[in-house]
Amino acid sequence: MTTLNEAPVDDSSEWRSLLAQAAGAQARPQALPLTPASALQALYGPLCAARRAGPFVVGHLAQSLDGRIATVCGKSRWLSSAEDLLHTHRMRALSQAVVVGVTTVLLDDPQLTVRRCTGPNPVRVVLDPDRRLDGSQRLFRDESAPTLLLCGADRASEGERLGHAEVIPVVRGESGLSPHEICRVLALRGLSSLLVEGGGVTVSRFLAAGALNRLQVTIAPVILGSGRPAIALPTITDLSNSLRPRTRRVMMGVDVMIECDFDV
Ligand SMILES: NC(=O)c1ccc[n+]([C@@H]2O[C@H](COP(=O)([O-])OP(=O)(O)OC[C@H]3O[C@@H](n4cnc5c(N)ncnc54)[C@H](OP(=O)(O)O)[C@@H]3O)[C@@H](O)[C@H]2O)c1
Repeated sequence: MTTLNEAPVDDSSEWRSLLAQAAGAQARPQALPLTPASALQALYGPLCAARRAGPFVVGHLAQSLDGRIATVCGKSRWLSSAEDLLHTHRMRALSQAVVVGVTTVLLDDPQLTVRRCTGPNPVRVVLDPDRRLDGSQRLFRDESAPTLLLCGADRASEGERLGHAEVIPVVRGESGLSPHEICRVLALRGLSSLLVEGGGVTVSRFLAAGALNRLQVTIAPVILGSGRPAIALPTITDLSNSLRPRTRRVMMGVDVMIECDFDV
């Protein structure tokens, strides 16, 4: 039986053509397709096109049927299927930067690199407003991708580094670092296509601020009954105040990924 860690790397010619599209290679004129678009093109083609059009921020979370992304103590490996894991690596490869919150780095010690498919590693961005990280985590020690640590402006000094990471002060907003300010700071560094990969608090803050173009929620047929929540937004009392974005659905092995489009 193949385990997740032994899963083969995806390097199909079709995937490489999508990588070229994401990198801004000249798109071929659209001819009427004689055959239906392939599953890869259908899923990633619109994302590549949107990314070429301007700043583009995608949130992604894998959750249980009851809306949890990890157990109470923070175990999330592996909640979703190998297909969703490959999808996450593809999304990294198509993004210029991947953004995570400090709790994910503390609990998972993730690498945030592209390993399940071919493609460039995104710049790794950690949101750690109060400098809870000590630099011992893997992404500060390995040099597989540039790494930025964004913190409150009061917690960083000029030119500071944490391991191999550059420490970037960000002016604090009313509740933490404003997602729009984060996007602006990253855009100044040429990073305008972002994958906000978790956890729930981080993705929720981007969503609450209206800073996501897309939200991808992969739902695994698993019930945890307790654990860390996926999306949490300010309380509403009337269903008319809920978000009802246009969605598309894609099967990811036994999981279903629902992508919300906030641009329409
Ligand atoms: N299933 C999945 O898809 C998935 C993906 C990633 C992670 N995870 C799991 O999720 C868990 C962690 O998620 P989580 O929701 O508890 O935490 P998280 O989102 O990883 O980190 C939240 C923390 O990051 C900082 N932060 C994030 N956005 C900020 C902003 N806009 N401004 C200021 N600070 C900001 C805050 O730090 P301070 O508290 O210092 O203010 C906040 O408390 C882990 O167990 C991990 O395994 C699951």
